[in-house]
Amino acid sequence: METKQRKVLVGNPTYLQANGLVRYNEEGRPAKSQLVYTIMNFPFRCNLRCLKCYREPAKHQETLDTDTRKRIIRESRDLGAAVLGIPGEGEPFFYFDEIQPVVEYACSQGLITLLYSNGTLFDEERLRFLYDHNVSLIVSCDSLKPDTFRDLTKGDVGRVREGLEMAREVYQPSVRREGETTYTRLGLISIVSEQNMGDIAELSEFTGYDFFHIVNTLVRIGGGEDNWESLIGNHQYTEYMETAKRYTDTFLGGITTPWEDGNCAAFHNGITITTNGDVQICPAVVKKPIGNAKTMSVEEIWGKQQELVKKINFWCIARRPDLEAYLKEFVGF
Ligand SMILES: C[S@@+](CC[C@H](N)C(=O)[O-])C[C@H]1O[C@@H](n2cnc3c(N)ncnc32)[C@H](O)[C@@H]1O
Ligand code: SF4
Repeated sequence: METKQRKVLVGNPTYLQANGLVRYNEEGRPAKSQLVYTIMNFPFRCNLRCLKCYREPAKHQETLDTDTRKRIIRESRDLGAAVLGIPGEGEPFFYFDEIQPVVEYACSQGLITLLYSNGTLFDEERLRFLYDHNVSLIVSCDSLKPDTFRDLTKGDVGRVREGLEMAREVYQPSVRREGETTYTRLGLISIVSEQNMGDIAELSEFTGYDFFHIVNTLVRIGGGEDNWESLIGNHQYTEYMETAKRYTDTFLGGITTPWEDGNCAAFHNGITITTNGDVQICPAVVKKPIGNAKTMSVEEIWGKQQELVKKINFWCIARRPDLEAYLKEFVGF
C-alpha cells in the first residue's frame, strides 16, 4: 500500500535539520547563534504588476558589485550559513546575467540557493544552469485561472503553466524518495487573498508529488498595504492563516522558512542584504535599513541582527500587527 508522503524542499529548515546543517542548543532547539540564511536582492525589474507586491516602495537601481556579493557569501559560509536566498527585488529571470556568477560562487562554496521567480520567462538553458548549481527554485503562482491571475498580476497564466512544466522536466532528477519523505528542489508559492481563496485547492493538487507547496498570508507592505482592503475583502486575517495551514507543505501555514517552534528562520537565523547593500531586518521589511554591507562585515551584520531579534521577540516581524508603530517605538527606527 502507498504510504502518505511528506514533501521537503531542499534548503528549507526541515531539510537542513535532517541533513545535519543546523547546530542545536542545550534544549535541543536550533541554536540562535548560528547564521543559517543569507538573503540578497538585485535591482528591481519586473514584467508583472502584482497587486500584492511588497517591493513597491523599494525599487533600487544602485547595486552591489559581484566581488562584494562574493565576499558576503564567503563570510556567511565561514559563520555557518547553509543557504543563499534570492527572494528577488523584481523578477530574477529579467536580470539573469547578474545572478549567474553569484549563484555559481555560492555553489562553489557549498551553499544551496533558494531562488524565487514568477515563472513567466523560463527557458530550458537557464533552468539547467540553476539545476546544475544547487538551486532550489520557488515559482510564484496565486491562481491557475486566467482571469484571476490577470486581476492579481496583469499577466498571462498560460506563460506560468508552460514555465512550470519546463521546470518540472528539468528538475525531475532532483526528486528523491526516502521512506515517507520526498525531497525536491522545486517549490510553488501561493499567497492567499480574497481573489484566490477558492483556488488554493486546485493549486495544491497541481503541485503533485514534485512541487513543494508553500501557502503564505499577505504581508501589509507596499502593494500589500495599498491594496489591503481589496486583497483581504470581508474575511478575517485568521481565515487566511487557516487556509494557508490547511494546504501548505511547510508545517506552519503563513511563512516560508519556519523552524519547528514556529519562528521564521530567515528572520531569527538570517540576514537580508538588499540591492544597494542596505541591511534589512527581514526580506519583506523593505524600508528602514539597519546598516550597509559595503561598510560592515557579515559578522557585524549578524551581531546587529541578533540584537534586534532578541529585542523584537516575535515569530515573524513582517506579520507583526501595527508594524510601523512597533518598529518606531521598540526598535528605534
Ligand atoms: C517580491 S517576489 C520576487 C520574486 C518573483 N518576482 C516572484 O514573484 O516570485 C518574492 C516573493 O514575495 C511574495 N510576495 C510579494 N508581495 C507579497 C506580500 N504582500 N505578502 C506576502 N508575500 C508577498 C511573492 O509571492 C513571491 O513569492
Ligand atoms: S511579486 Fe514578483 S512578479 Fe509580482 S510584481 Fe512583485 S516582483 Fe514582480
